[in-house]
Amino acid sequence: MLILGIETSCDETAASVVKDGQTLLSNVIATSLAEHSQFGGVVPEIACRHHLEWINRTVNEALTKADILGEELDGISVTQGPGLPGALLVGISMAKAMAFGLGKPILGIHHLQAHLYANFLVDASSQEMPNMEFPYMGLIVSGGHTLLVLVRDVDDYQIVGQTTDDAAGEAFDKVARLLGLGYPGGPVIDSRAKEGNGNAITFPRAMIHEKNFDFSFSGVKTAVLYYLKNNVGLEHGVQSLEDLPQAPSSKLQADLINDLCASFQEAVVDVLVHKSLQSCREFGVRTLSVGGGVAANSRLRERLKEEGVREGLRVLFPPKGLSIDNAAMVAGLGGALFKKGYRSDLSFTALPNWNIETSGQRTAR
Ligand code: KG4
Ligand code: ZN
Repeated sequence: MLILGIETSCDETAASVVKDGQTLLSNVIATSLAEHSQFGGVVPEIACRHHLEWINRTVNEALTKADILGEELDGISVTQGPGLPGALLVGISMAKAMAFGLGKPILGIHHLQAHLYANFLVDASSQEMPNMEFPYMGLIVSGGHTLLVLVRDVDDYQIVGQTTDDAAGEAFDKVARLLGLGYPGGPVIDSRAKEGNGNAITFPRAMIHEKNFDFSFSGVKTAVLYYLKNNVGLEHGVQSLEDLPQAPSSKLQADLINDLCASFQEAVVDVLVHKSLQSCREFGVRTLSVGGGVAANSRLRERLKEEGVREGLRVLFPPKGLSIDNAAMVAGLGGALFKKGYRSDLSFTALPNWNIETSGQRTAR
């Protein structure tokens, strides 16, 4: 079964062809990330224009690299939500036009369900197929979401815990901004943290001892702000990041920035690891699948692998390049859901706030 996947929920325009729900035949990503960095976050208008400009080329390249014609496809899957409304509509319109023109079935896909599915994809050259065993625990950590989800099947998701304020990636981005390290914050904090001491400064581990699986990351960000105010004389009267006239990085020594990065990262990772492992114990699952941009974090990978393996868990992180937004995960999950008989009809629309537990607008045949 050959499925074309299309992804345009945020700032990546992506298309991919996946065979039988698992084997990557192509994975093309055109990102507008650089165009947003000067604004400190994704600007929806810029993202939408970029999608319109790149969507045709990206889809054509995905088909060419997979060495197939549109006629040979068995179906088209596209991210239907959650995401930026205008951005989603570009991908959905492209997918509908192709499905209509080629006479192929179409399916709207949940972006976060797809992030978790990324762990089951393999290269065409791979000899091993990671087997999908249900149930598994899904940890989704991105710029917009932080969730623990019990996955009973490709179409059965239950939220076990979630952030009550900022997402984990958002905290990385805000702290990086505070330190004058630019956007996105995750990759740069990750690499600066390698040069620093994670025990240098103790930042709060919010909700770590509470008997639930929810998270809170806005406190740790504020703690970094107060550390700067109290220790490096951040301007008096600055109460929040939004009030900050300019990044205080010029006043900071490189060593202190490294220690701040490492200590902040350790606080976030501590909570993520603790709650993820605890949720696996509580629900008696043996596999933890991690997805979303923050799944690229090297400290999170190291600690979850180490501590998970100690508890006999199988901890899965996406293959290289598949933790960022991509369409392979959309084509892969599309293949699995098409196989179960799911379809969308051509009247479906974007679901910018689609709850992962609900089935959206698809129908089962
Ligand atoms: O899933 P994603 O590509 O986009 C959505 O938010 O949907 O995630 C982007 C987020 C950003 O907040 C970025 O700072 C974070 O993932 N990120 C990281 C790393 N790489 C990306 N956070 C921590 N460590 C990283 N290595
Ligand atoms: Zn994403």
